[in-house]
Parts: sequence; structure tokens; C-alpha cells
Amino acid sequence: MKLTTAPEPDGRIGAMLSVEGLTVTFPALGSRVIDDINFTIEKGKTIGLVGESGSGKSMTSLAIMGLLPEGAAVEGSVSYWGEQLLGNPDSAMRRLRGDRIAMIFQDPLSSLNPYFTVGFQIAEAYRTHRGGSRRQARGVAVEAMRQVRIPDAERRVDHYPHQFSGGMRQRVMIAMALVCQPDLIIADEPTTALDVTVQAQILTLMSDLQDSTGAGMLFITHDLAVVSDVADSIVVMQRGKTVEQGTAEAIFSWPESDYTRALLAATPRLDDIVDLPEPLRGTR
Ligand SMILES: Nc1ncnc2c1ncn2[C@@H]1O[C@H](COP(=O)(O)OP(=O)(O)O)[C@@H](O)[C@H]1O
Ligand SMILES: [Mg+2]
Repeated sequence: MKLTTAPEPDGRIGAMLSVEGLTVTFPALGSRVIDDINFTIEKGKTIGLVGESGSGKSMTSLAIMGLLPEGAAVEGSVSYWGEQLLGNPDSAMRRLRGDRIAMIFQDPLSSLNPYFTVGFQIAEAYRTHRGGSRRQARGVAVEAMRQVRIPDAERRVDHYPHQFSGGMRQRVMIAMALVCQPDLIIADEPTTALDVTVQAQILTLMSDLQDSTGAGMLFITHDLAVVSDVADSIVVMQRGKTVEQGTAEAIFSWPESDYTRALLAATPRLDDIVDLPEPLRGTR
């Protein structure tokens, strides 16, 4: 029997994001920071990208987003609903970023502008892509803050970043990332700066939001325990290369490499530490 892929309702075919042979070098330095990375992200699914610090996780996400630093050369293929992103002009990438593809980074304090209210910043993230009046966008910002469960959003929308706790600031960043309803979310160490209880709350939130929006997610962390609770499949990286990859279940139950086993041994699972809500409890 011939296998065919059912087209998406709006005519899209195949995987949301398909990364093939992705390689990043710095020719002037003679360094190869990622080497032949391959994975796909389907709608509603999460890929966990795991590895120790310096293994090339952030370079992978920057290459996908077209945000590599000066001097980097990229090879391979990154296709988003069949459209090749590598070599796309900057203007096209700017239109995608923050709209169809959203990013969440580790450190919300350095990503938020201290001189503007959080509501203004969420509203501008919306207006950049969708236009409309400031007043309309303020309403969208309040709604986005409610969605990420920031209490008293109608009042908090006019507060400045320093008036929020670390966990609440990360919720603001998530609200900003989700305000245009992206279908792909790239989260680079989104919970690393948070203490373990807040980390669990943010993971629950992200997992709930993903369930309700059906977005695909690339979830990057150095912490294999974190990814065990959110990822459908996992790519383990070391020094720019894939050490192993597979379903989360396979990686946790039958880790093949010593490196993965060492990562597993190094990190206690979140639910060994705090009482996680049901959807995040692991099966190991
Ligand atoms: N601007 C740069 N120029 C050259 N090499 C870099 C640059 N930024 C990072 N690197 C190197 O790329 C490798 C991967 O880094 P990175 O992707 O940030 O790792 P991770 O996110 O897994 O901690 C590291 O060896 C790092 O030293
Ligand atoms: Mg990184």
C-alpha cells in the first residue's frame, strides 16, 4: 500500500518543522559548533533538546530562527511547513519570528525592557505583527496575561518588570511569546533561572497552553529530568553532535550511551522533589 500524508486543513503537508543535517561552523575560528543535527517537530508535539552546557543547544535554536552570530556559516536544511528557512532573507525571518514562531529565553529580566510596563511590551509584540490601536492591543495584553494565569491582570498590565517575581516575569515572557498564537515555540532553558517549585508551575503552564493551542515545541534544557516531563521525543547532544535520540520513553528506559546515563544520574526528577500535578508526573 502506498503511504500518503494527509494534507493539513489549510493545504499544508508534512511536518511543521523538519531539521536535516543542520551544521554550524565558524570558518575563521576553524570550529564546528553543531554537526549534522536531525529532527522533526509535528503539530502539538514537543522535542526535548538536551545536553551539557556548550553542547550546541542554543546554536541549534539560533540557526533555526536565523539568528546566528556574525561569522557563523550554516549548512543543511530547516523547513517549516515545507518552506526552506536557511538562507531566507532577514525580512522574511523577522515576519515569522514572534508571529508564527515564538521564542522563550532563560532570563526574562534581560529580555524585558525595564522602562516600559509589561502590558506595553506584550501589546507591542502583538502590534508589530498584527497592527491595530494601542488601546486594542492593551486589551489583548490583559487577555494574554490572564491566559498565563497572572493574577489581577487588569491591574498588573500597567506594572513594570521589576515589580514582578522571577516566576511571574517568566509568565510575562510566555504571554509575549504566545500573543500572536504561534504554531511553533522555541524555548531555550525557559525554567533554568527559577527555583524548583516555580519551575514546576511554569512547566505545568506551558504544557497546558500547548494542549489548548496545539503548538509544536522545541524545548531546550541541560536538565534531562525537566524534559522527561514535557517531551515526546528527545535529542541528546554532546559537543555539537547527536549522541542519541528517540522517544522520551525509550531514552529514559533504555539509554544507550554512557553520556545519557550520566545526565540521567546527575538530575533528580522534578517529581522526586515536589508534588507535581498529574499531567506532569513521569512514568519511570
Ligand atoms: N559567537 C560565537 N562564536 C564562536 N563560537 C561560539 C559563539 N557562541 C558560542 N560558541 C560556541 O558554540 C558552542 C555551542 O554553544 P551553545 O550552543 O551556546 O551551547 P549550549 O546552548 O548547549 O550551552 C560552544 O562551544 C561555544 O563556545
Ligand atoms: Mg544555551
